[in-house]
Amino acid sequence: MEHIHITDVAPRDGLQNQPVHLDAQAKLQLAQLLAKAGVRSIEATSFVSPKAVPQMADAAELLPLLRHALPDLRTSVLVPNLKGLERAHAAGATEIAVVLSATETMNRKNINMGLDQATEVSEQTLAEAHKLGLRTRAYVAVAFDCPFEGETPLDEVLRLAHRMHRAGAGEIVIADTIGSASPGMVKQRMGALAEAIALDRLSIHLHDTRGMAVANAWAALEVGIRRFDASVGGIGGCPFAPGAAGNVATEDLVLMAERSGFATGISLDGLLDTVDFAQQQLQRPLGGRAITWLRRQREKKNS
Ligand code: COA
Ligand code: ZN
Repeated sequence: MEHIHITDVAPRDGLQNQPVHLDAQAKLQLAQLLAKAGVRSIEATSFVSPKAVPQMADAAELLPLLRHALPDLRTSVLVPNLKGLERAHAAGATEIAVVLSATETMNRKNINMGLDQATEVSEQTLAEAHKLGLRTRAYVAVAFDCPFEGETPLDEVLRLAHRMHRAGAGEIVIADTIGSASPGMVKQRMGALAEAIALDRLSIHLHDTRGMAVANAWAALEVGIRRFDASVGGIGGCPFAPGAAGNVATEDLVLMAERSGFATGISLDGLLDTVDFAQQQLQRPLGGRAITWLRRQREKKNS
């Protein structure tokens, strides 16, 4: 069976936009449940301004807890600038992700920089991270549509992905930040990217705003993408991108992939336990499209 690699971004993308703020201990428990389910890579937190994203203000406290409790789990952390890298390194980060949006306005709204400055800052941050021996990822956000500027030109996405590739990013994460992509667009855009960038360095980050995320993941699989971001329970969304709903649910992606002959190494039962925990912590019902069916299967098995 061919393997696909999933990074669960619930601890960062999932929690950054929640009205209920989890403390570091609860975040640690969430990561422990994910690891127990077989997830080998997470996006743990972000070293951003606590004024911009108060939910991530405890990053420097959380990361050492995670590294200590789960030394084998890959824990990437999002950093928007050199100050974020410095803070992440001081807290023991081993992998960082920079976030570059493919439009002028989205960069301004998200990180208060224009596109050119954001590109340069991302390159500098990657270079410094490599000097420190860290693994790196680079997001190209709003790679399909921008909530402020409409459809993002594909040439711009290709140009920025190339720059991140040349800057040595270990993984280039093409993000459908507002969840507006369709399988046709995914095929076209990821296909074009795959011609230019080694497939094992490309990854896709999907949101499920229009209910297309699983279909989009399948379209990405068909053009050879094997690295995915997903979020357990489908939680997620960017506070600076109006209209963005949650990420593709990890349990939906795992179900789709395993039923289609791909190995994920992740247990659906373990994910259900994680959804139950997140639901209780966030005090609202969670779960992707398959959650009702998955719960029913578990009940049948246990009865
Ligand atoms: N972590 C913590 N604090 C930071 C920081 C970082 N990475 N970068 C800057 N700051 C602090 C500065 O030290 C300064 O603090 P002070 O007011 O106490 O002196 C303050 O933030 C303003 O600094 P400045 O460089 O002018 O930043 P800004 O106001 O232009 O904001 C970002 C830029 C990138 C820090 C901010 O927009 C941000 O954190 N965005 C996060 C976006 C995000 O997480 N989006 C969701 C995920 S894609
Ligand atoms: Zn996202």
